Amino acid sequence: MNNEEKRELCLSLMRAIVRWKLIPNSESNGQYVSSCSAVGAKAHPARFPEKLSEFLIRFLTDPGELVFDIFAGSNIAGAVAEREGRRWISFELDLD
Ligand SMILES: C[S@@+](CC[C@H](N)C(=O)[O-])C[C@H]1O[C@@H](n2cnc3c(N)ncnc32)[C@H](O)[C@@H]1O
Repeated sequence: MNNEEKRELCLSLMRAIVRWKLIPNSESNGQYVSSCSAVGAKAHPARFPEKLSEFLIRFLTDPGELVFDIFAGSNIAGAVAEREGRRWISFELDLD
């Protein structure tokens, strides 16, 4: 499968995931939320579902490759990338 085919497949999958709510929009009991609570930090209000980040990173990259997120928010993508053996760079405007 070439990159264009992968991109098309990802877009179709993401549309299906949103349309049929296959992955919850936010996880109320995830590690991110409990870590925020533990340090008294406010959880990001619009974070990406971890399972969706995980799928996209596994599908689109190989271990050792770079995941680049220019709207990092909670940095879920960076955390998943690290867990999956990818390198990552994230940009986030809001320091909170
Ligand atoms: C929808 S949220 C991203 C959520 C993220 N994917 C996650 O899982 O938490 C968009 C984020 O982009 C950030 N943002 C907006 N403009 C930006 C900019 N010019 N540079 C860096 N970050 C920016 C916002 O502060 C916000 O946290």
